[in-house]
Amino acid sequence: MTLKTELEKRKQEVEEILQFYLPEVNSGRGSLIPAVRYSVLAGGKRLRPVIMIESYRMFGGSSDVIRPFAAAMEMIHTHSLVHDDLPAVDNDDFRRGKKTTHAVYGEAVGLLAGDALLNLAYETMIQAFRYNEEGDRIYRAAAILASKSGFSGMLGGQGLDVENEKNGRQNYSEEELLYIYEQKTAALLEAAMMVGAVLGGAAREQISLCEQIGSKIGLAFQIRDDILDVTSTQEELGKPVFSDAKNEKTTFVTLYNVDQASAIADRLTDEALEKLRELPGDTGFLEALFREMAGRKS
Ligand code: IPE
Ligand code: IPE
Ligand code: MG
Ligand code: MG
Ligand code: MG
Repeated sequence: MTLKTELEKRKQEVEEILQFYLPEVNSGRGSLIPAVRYSVLAGGKRLRPVIMIESYRMFGGSSDVIRPFAAAMEMIHTHSLVHDDLPAVDNDDFRRGKKTTHAVYGEAVGLLAGDALLNLAYETMIQAFRYNEEGDRIYRAAAILASKSGFSGMLGGQGLDVENEKNGRQNYSEEELLYIYEQKTAALLEAAMMVGAVLGGAAREQISLCEQIGSKIGLAFQIRDDILDVTSTQEELGKPVFSDAKNEKTTFVTLYNVDQASAIADRLTDEALEKLRELPGDTGFLEALFREMAGRKS
């Protein structure tokens, strides 16, 4: 099976899981649930839950306990996008090939839908505690997903990132940018790898390797995102191009140039692949996926 068909199959699995955990539209309850469903079901590559499920199975996991975690992972990620696009943050009107949530439902509902989605992620993740897993695996996995999303993870990174805008300071160094990218983007990829590993029963050193792999893949992913912002089209990306320039941000493209940024992303991907090979089990799918992510066009 080619990577494309394999990936499509796994994305379908994630779509089914999301449909299962998303609340139904209830008439008379306003537009919050429709807005949440709109943002989640607008599409998206579903990379984080796909990686989480694969990491889980690679370590021998085979139960449904991964389902609420995979859904929560994508809900937290989608929440980050809904809020990232708000006028007060990046102020973008397109996402996943559609109008952004706030552009359709208004800023107030957009803001609340992002909040509701983050809360829903935890409502969903808590359902994992119904499963009977060995030791404290569910607690440990939940703690990782929560902290990688918070102050020392995605939200902390977004908090720093908004200062890297037109009214903030300029001239960030590579080291400072990497610090922001590690948090705003890599942390959720680390969580995807680590949650799968913890639930699958990985050993401590293997979980740490998963964190390192997620970090490198995440940094490469954000640098590629910076590159696509200046080299792609809205049609291909599903979101506006030149968003970073509009917000006068320092990125890997302004710090270096497209070729140099690309070489850094490729180097990080190679380092991740090297570490991936140290893990047990069949790493073939993740290897192919990470290569694809490094050369992605959207
Ligand atoms: C976009 O993430 C935000 C970044 C971290 C660059 P994705 O490129 O994974 O977005 P979707 O989920 O496919 O829309
Ligand atoms: C996104 O960084 C990181 C998030 C956690 C949302 P960007 O602001 O560059 O992401 P896009 O380009 O809007 O997807
Ligand atoms: Mg942003
Ligand atoms: Mg943005
Ligand atoms: Mg971007």
